[in-house]
Amino acid sequence: MKNTPFDLTGKVAIVTGSSRGIGRSSAELLAKLGAKVVVSSRKVDACKEVADGINASGGDATVIPCNIARKAEVEALVAGTIKHYGKIDILVCNAAVNPYYGPLLDITDEAFDKIMGSNVKSNIWLSALAIPQMAERGNGSVIIISSIGGLRGSTVIGAYGISKAADFALCRSLAGEWGPKGVRVNCIAPGLVKTDFARALWEDEANLKRRTATTPLRRIGEPDEIAGAVAYLASDASSFMTGQTIVIDGGVTTAAT
Ligand SMILES: NC(=O)c1ccc[n+]([C@@H]2O[C@H](COP(=O)([O-])OP(=O)(O)OC[C@H]3O[C@@H](n4cnc5c(N)ncnc54)[C@H](OP(=O)(O)O)[C@@H]3O)[C@@H](O)[C@H]2O)c1
Repeated sequence: MKNTPFDLTGKVAIVTGSSRGIGRSSAELLAKLGAKVVVSSRKVDACKEVADGINASGGDATVIPCNIARKAEVEALVAGTIKHYGKIDILVCNAAVNPYYGPLLDITDEAFDKIMGSNVKSNIWLSALAIPQMAERGNGSVIIISSIGGLRGSTVIGAYGISKAADFALCRSLAGEWGPKGVRVNCIAPGLVKTDFARALWEDEANLKRRTATTPLRRIGEPDEIAGAVAYLASDASSFMTGQTIVIDGGVTTAAT
């Protein structure tokens, strides 16, 4: 991959929520492209398995566990990365939570605060800690994994959608603030992807059938199909792109009805 705009040799990446799903695929692809990768989630053993796999195949990965809802752990993640690898070039804000399915107006304050805290406020913490040192070197890429739930209404995951819509706004404002210093900030909005996070949506056969019937590609996505866009946004291949969102959803948000 050397001498292509996708080459990440010498870059250091943090991927939150990278013990499985989209985060894991992203961490593995970034490492394959040459980046040193910090694998992180709440469960150290699950992260270790991912990092061991990367290291065994010639990459360079380390584990720093972090619950993104806890500021002290987010601070330790960023400080630990700088201590271990010296810098952060690529920040992938991937971990998110959705503890509530149901009518929006029935949500408890606790559930709402948890969603906004983990899916929005935590991305501000991570950005505030990582972006200034990127700006000092005049180069960096922040990638926020949002969702098409932030583009469309929902009768069951409304609060999650609010948090993911907030991520689009967060991305645009950070892009404006830090673009002059060479730091780019972009979002990815996946549609339904086959991971544990969305299990309730794809394990229900009737729901899956309904969903794929209105999806132009007639299927749901796989984590690797999101990781490619993470690698693109992390690399110089996207050097003129900031403040934007890449929608990767099999076409479901564009489908004629
Ligand atoms: N799957 C979809 O259909 C879909 C669609 C649109 C957007 N997304 C977005 O894609 C991102 C990744 O989701 P996924 O589908 O790949 O989920 P996943 O396969 O369930 O993986 C979630 C990852 O996040 C970690 N995690 C969960 N809570 C955490 C917390 N509080 N602090 C730190 N890490 C935490 C998990 O590990 P631990 O349990 O060890 O912490 C795991 O590594 C999320 O932002 C989600 O909103 C997913």
